[in-house]
Amino acid sequence: MSEDLRKWLAKVDELGELRRINNADWNLEIGALTALNARRRNCPALLFDRIIGYPEGLRVLTGSTSSPKLVGLTLNVGMGYDDLELIEVIRGKLPEWEASWSRYQPREVKTGTVFENVKTGKEVDLFAFPVPKYNELDGGRYIGTADAVITRDPDDGWVNVGTYRMMVHDKNTSGILIVPGQHSRVHIQKYHEKGQACPIAVSIGHHPLVFRVASLEVPAGIEYNFMGAILEEPVDVIIEEITGLPIPADSEIVLAGSCPPGNFRNEGPFGEWTGYYASGVEPAPVIDIERIYYRNNPVLLGSPPNKAPCDASYFGVLLRSAMLHNDLERMGIPDVKGVWISEVAGRQFITVSIRQRYAGHAKQAALLATQSRVGSNMGRYVIVTDEDIDPTNIQDVLWALCTRSDPVQDIDIIRNCRSNSLDPVIRKPSKAYFNSRAIIDACKPYEWKDEFPAEIRISPELADRVKSKWKDIL
Ligand SMILES: Cc1cc2nc3c(=O)[nH]c(=O)nc-3n(C[C@H](O)[C@H](O)[C@H](O)COP(=O)(O)O)c2cc1C
Repeated sequence: MSEDLRKWLAKVDELGELRRINNADWNLEIGALTALNARRRNCPALLFDRIIGYPEGLRVLTGSTSSPKLVGLTLNVGMGYDDLELIEVIRGKLPEWEASWSRYQPREVKTGTVFENVKTGKEVDLFAFPVPKYNELDGGRYIGTADAVITRDPDDGWVNVGTYRMMVHDKNTSGILIVPGQHSRVHIQKYHEKGQACPIAVSIGHHPLVFRVASLEVPAGIEYNFMGAILEEPVDVIIEEITGLPIPADSEIVLAGSCPPGNFRNEGPFGEWTGYYASGVEPAPVIDIERIYYRNNPVLLGSPPNKAPCDASYFGVLLRSAMLHNDLERMGIPDVKGVWISEVAGRQFITVSIRQRYAGHAKQAALLATQSRVGSNMGRYVIVTDEDIDPTNIQDVLWALCTRSDPVQDIDIIRNCRSNSLDPVIRKPSKAYFNSRAIIDACKPYEWKDEFPAEIRISPELADRVKSKWKDIL
């Protein structure tokens, strides 16, 4: 493909959205700078160079999609939008991308820039790269936070590309945490059930789109096509020799190896998107790295999670809100006026605003939202409001919650839903990660909504009149 991380960096630099940082330590300083940068809205991307203990040119990039401009550029949808405009643009684009992905089969090429350097066997050394230890209580250095883990289904042959965290154990092994239900976890399980090692390739530096699509709940096996549909050209891949897996030809760094059966080592803790080190230390599969490919002066892409707003949170909110809105419509929910997944809690606080059409409309929307592809994994609260409530405005949402719902009849609890080891309220270790969902109907009661007390409003005419009469006060 004609796009790669180097071209992306040049464009971001030209926009004035790239900050170069020299002399930061891989040990905590990159993590702290990244977290503090992401707490400001509209923050720039950070490119770390001359990292302490490493030669110039071995770089780390964070903050790659933490502002509307960077998201617009990465998704190839243009810039200049605010949050809500961007969601609408993405909502419009999603069906186009979904309809066209079959035309963008990844294109196999023989070679690429990622082959500029190759280290095999004893030459493999993960510590040769400035892998950050992001947070003070992290159990190690995390080489995979914005990665693209590539595996193949041993039965059907389809290829998955997913983002899963990876902690370096030693110079040629890494742990990987993949929560239940994720596609690559199923692939690994299938190989292990046959007593075989699962071949794995991992790109750890690439155009941010590779990471962002790998971390989205797109249908099985279409990640490369989806990236192609967004860029409007096929992604170039090379069939990697050891694993037989397609790796992006323009990656900055690719690790190739395998995940053998029965080999588990303690992984974690790691500061996660819930704002806690909740998954603790648990045995996780190990990947033996047999070969590393990398470009000259490679860039490791990082997106460490944290209590939101963090590096990883903004993009997820936009995309998941847009996807859920479209999914609800596709599942037949009429008159969805807005969907917002609060950035504060990743995917755990979803607000859907609807124009109530019939008795049960709100409950139907809430139930489907809890079990949708976006809401099903470790969700928590779904609130449905009337169409006059702006779901992105937490003040309005809480006002509707407190004034239009009565807990005894408007809150339902659904038990035994899907969660995972990152869930802070589940005591570890646990054999099964269930949690519950609360769905809250914060709409005016359907039966007498037209008699609901009138709201206090100031008409636009009255507001204009008093504002112009008392300009010095308002
Ligand atoms: C920054 C970031 C880190 C993530 N880390 C993990 C992880 O460690 N384990 C995991 O199972 N999912 C993780 N995810 C979520 C998955 O990438 C996401 O659910 C994706 O859809 C998984 O791909 P799959 O559906 O093909 O399995 C992460 C997402 C992001 C944005």
